[in-house]
Amino acid sequence: MPRLCSLFSLPSTTQPRRVLSKSFFTAGLLCLSLFSHVSVMAQQRLLPLDKVQSGLAFTGPEILELQADDFANPALPYLDKGAKLWSQAAGKADKSCESCHGDINSSMKGVATRYPAIDKASKKLFNLEDRIRSCRTKQQKASDWPLESDELLAVSLYVTSASNGMPVQANIDGAAKPHFENGQKIFMTRQGQMNMACTQCHDQRYGIKLYTDRLSQGQPNAYPAYRIEWQSLASLERRLRFCYNGVRAEVPAWGHGVMRDISLYLMWRAQGLNIEVPSVRK
Ligand code: HEC
Ligand code: HEC
Repeated sequence: MPRLCSLFSLPSTTQPRRVLSKSFFTAGLLCLSLFSHVSVMAQQRLLPLDKVQSGLAFTGPEILELQADDFANPALPYLDKGAKLWSQAAGKADKSCESCHGDINSSMKGVATRYPAIDKASKKLFNLEDRIRSCRTKQQKASDWPLESDELLAVSLYVTSASNGMPVQANIDGAAKPHFENGQKIFMTRQGQMNMACTQCHDQRYGIKLYTDRLSQGQPNAYPAYRIEWQSLASLERRLRFCYNGVRAEVPAWGHGVMRDISLYLMWRAQGLNIEVPSVRK
């Protein structure tokens, strides 16, 4: 990378951090945009399997410590909440998740590793949150949990925790194939005012510093994750929306199929990684 671009990773000591943060980030983006290129082929793994690394590898020691701390990890209260909701009867059916599914550690073991997946009834690509909402309204006959609501995220985290440490999988055949292909295409396509593709940051530039934070590979295996900046648990969809904003691209409506397609591509690309929850991100 040209020398000019290495400058933006060196914070000045004379100015306050906050002020610098934004402009350094923007300068970084411009540099990335100018000096990287995207090559798109039919079906590719631009990140070789032996190079795949979890976001944890890039977060720095404070986050590592916080995530490992059994008391201070800020995602833990959500896990407790998820456990409570799992066994709480609700709706016209007056059933809890547990009434039908039983012990989470057997019924939900491995489930989160293979989402997004095609929902047989609607033929849509469902992420885990979509699947849970469908059980909530159709099986429990209870009020919907909106996307990004605390309840939905807490239950999603709890269900995901039953797959902790298990390798992610992705079924990209059959009805899932066009979704995978679309997700891959978007990942490789430049967009937004910054005219940048996901691959430019997350395949080609991971490890470099955008001001204080190192770019990760954009892996999906730790979601829902607690994000300190947002002071809350957040879905993968919310994280992706933030990246859309980052390159000043038009953000698809909440729940849009495009976000599920990208997530499926991400899960395929993440093979080799294990599910890691409850996780923390800056
Ligand atoms: C300009 C660079 C840039 C682009 C382009 C970009 N992102 Fe990101 N992305 C970031 C930054 C910065 C973060 C937060 C730090 C990190 O994890 O890298 C992030 C985080 C993520 C994460 C969370 C990783 C984790 O472990 O918590 C995912 C997933 C992700 N991006 C996916 C995408 C996808 C999909 C696209 C394209 C739609 C995209 N990003 C485009 C910069 C970018
Ligand atoms: C009345 C029984 C019933 C209740 C209550 C119920 N579910 Fe389900 N759930 C099912 C059935 C049946 C399926 C499989 C058929 C389908 O796809 O809908 C399923 C499928 C699932 C799956 C997908 C499993 C897989 O292998 O892909 C998840 C995740 C799930 N339920 C979570 C929940 C959660 C969380 C709750 C509570 C909020 C809940 N369910 C409540 C009956 C129920």
